[in-house]
Amino acid sequence: MKYQKLGKTDITVSKVAFGCWGIGGGNVWSDMSVDAAHVADLLDAASDLGINYVDTAPVYGIGHSEEILGKALQGRRDRFIVQTKCSLNWRGEGGEFEYERDGKTVMRDHRASAVRKDVEDSLTRMNLDHIDSLVVHRISRTVPVEETMAELQKMIQEGKIRAVLISNSTPEDFENYSRYGTVAGVQEKLSLFNNAQEVYFPTCDKYEAVFQVYGSLEEGALTGRRFYEKSFGKGDVRANAKWMQEPYRAKTEELFDCLDALAGKYDCSSVNLVQAWTLKQYERLNLLTGFRRAETMQDTCKALDVEISDEDCALIGKLGKAVREAE
Ligand SMILES: NC(=O)c1ccc[n+]([C@@H]2O[C@H](COP(=O)([O-])OP(=O)(O)OC[C@H]3O[C@@H](n4cnc5c(N)ncnc54)[C@H](OP(=O)(O)O)[C@@H]3O)[C@@H](O)[C@H]2O)c1
Repeated sequence: MKYQKLGKTDITVSKVAFGCWGIGGGNVWSDMSVDAAHVADLLDAASDLGINYVDTAPVYGIGHSEEILGKALQGRRDRFIVQTKCSLNWRGEGGEFEYERDGKTVMRDHRASAVRKDVEDSLTRMNLDHIDSLVVHRISRTVPVEETMAELQKMIQEGKIRAVLISNSTPEDFENYSRYGTVAGVQEKLSLFNNAQEVYFPTCDKYEAVFQVYGSLEEGALTGRRFYEKSFGKGDVRANAKWMQEPYRAKTEELFDCLDALAGKYDCSSVNLVQAWTLKQYERLNLLTGFRRAETMQDTCKALDVEISDEDCALIGKLGKAVREAE
């Protein structure tokens, strides 16, 4: 395993982080039910691989991901940097409408009282006395950054949280947040099919912040052809994958053919090549990947040792670009 500092904090995190959206299930990730004992096995597998960083959020399974992660962390807490999120809740206390999920109305709320309650609820659900890293899940359209960040700084002083990241944001948001305290990193989508957030790299350089990537496998849609043989339930986020439909199909086939061919050359899985391409995009990148199986976790860690040549990296990038521009 490789490790990096979480921005300018004293927290050291593994380069591969274990994303717990899928274990939360709910309608959004619905084809496999996962209980706390299974998550405990995944945490042990993570430790064996050197992974010490886990990411969840209150909204994953509407509390369920945090609850089963919290149970699984009993007796294992000291091995992990636990990261969860704030600013989306379903308490019915106001804010702006975000979405309906699993029978709940989720609101975006960045008021001081709301983010404090988010943290307290997460601590209760996970049965923890502190959260190592707290990600502001969405950026507010109405509440001043100053109010939110002041409350997060207070909670750092109180020992409830140790570090703050922001997500689904822009470099300008980062500058705004940084006026009121340290932002250790960002959690943003980046994949072969969506590279818009690479605009963030100079800002991460400037603040020595971590660029934590989510969705590098497009929730499975970049794992290969077999993904497209599965059918997903209504509301499952993976049902939205459009890459094997027209007008993308031919270009996606080309990309998968190339990855399969290069997998032989590098003696790794084709998924590893997608991950090696992702890792090569930015030095301080943190590879946050969703897992529900120890096998996928083990395979992903191998990507850290796959040194793709600049030429092959450019080829993979070019084929990914052709897919996203096929429209
Ligand atoms: N801030 C945000 O708004 C935001 C949004 C989305 C996600 N996230 C976070 O980012 C994490 C990762 O994103 P994600 O879960 O959406 O999607 P992802 O990491 O792009 O894809 C996860 C899927 O890829 C599969 N997989 C992982 N490694 C593999 C490998 N080596 N070979 C084959 N398949 C592999 C997993 O399989 P198995 O399930 O079978 O193990 C899982 O189904 C989430 O869990 C969550 O913590 C944050």
